[in-house]
Amino acid sequence: MSEQRTLAIDIGGSGIKAALLDDKGQLISERERVPTPSKPIAPEVLLKAIDEAVSPLGAFDRVSVGFPGYVRDGRVITAPNLGTETLSGFDLQQALSSRWGKPVRVLNDADVQGFGAISGRGIEMILTLDTGAGTAIFRDGEIMPHLELAHHPISGGKTYDEYIGNQARRKKGKKKWNKRIAKVIDLLRVVVHFDHLYIGGGNAKDIDFPLPHDVSVVPNTEGLSGGIALWRAIPPHIAAGTGAIGAPDLPSTSGSTTEGDHQPHRGPDAE
Ligand code: BGC
Repeated sequence: MSEQRTLAIDIGGSGIKAALLDDKGQLISERERVPTPSKPIAPEVLLKAIDEAVSPLGAFDRVSVGFPGYVRDGRVITAPNLGTETLSGFDLQQALSSRWGKPVRVLNDADVQGFGAISGRGIEMILTLDTGAGTAIFRDGEIMPHLELAHHPISGGKTYDEYIGNQARRKKGKKKWNKRIAKVIDLLRVVVHFDHLYIGGGNAKDIDFPLPHDVSVVPNTEGLSGGIALWRAIPPHIAAGTGAIGAPDLPSTSGSTTEGDHQPHRGPDAE
């Protein structure tokens, strides 16, 4: 089978990034970035900004998108940092697929970044630190149902987004923000009992204390490179929504294409 070029898009609260990936999830193009339009964003405005990020890149065969909110079957349910009021109900997956005539898969951004980071062994969690605080949990490389922990209160009625998101970092300063990050790590360890916690996102670079042995910072590019995992096997919750859009071109090692017989996802290292 000839090499598939995957267009990976990471939609963030401040920037929309895009790059092309080879079959192994390696970047094979420049990483393009355009500023995210101001909130609340109408669907057409979002599509236009995505087009702008993608237009300098070459041809592609399929598309993976990380979206900063709750997504089901490619449809936006919430978009706290972009505008839930304008985007809720928008079928981003279908809209992009019709626009480009290619199969498209849309998943929460932390889920996608997690796929880029994990080893595929044990309970692994990712926490992304950007405008909001994204999380995703994996068991032996298989993604668990998405929890919007970002909106769970953690301290004094403040949600994770409010406690360790970008606004809190700016307002409270680095020292206090770092103390909060340390507290969140301890708390997540108790709640999830992860074997490893990866910390990603643009603000991870501001962590200035020594991390415990079971926690590490991962490069922000994994928000893009993790997109390859969306094409390794069909997660049931995605498969349910993609039938009409385009059957995935699965590598022969990735198992069945049917919902009931799917294989766990592996991070790029696990293959
Ligand atoms: C959203 C999450 C998202 C995170 C990072 C939060 O505000 O609720 O879905 O993963 O920001 O973008």
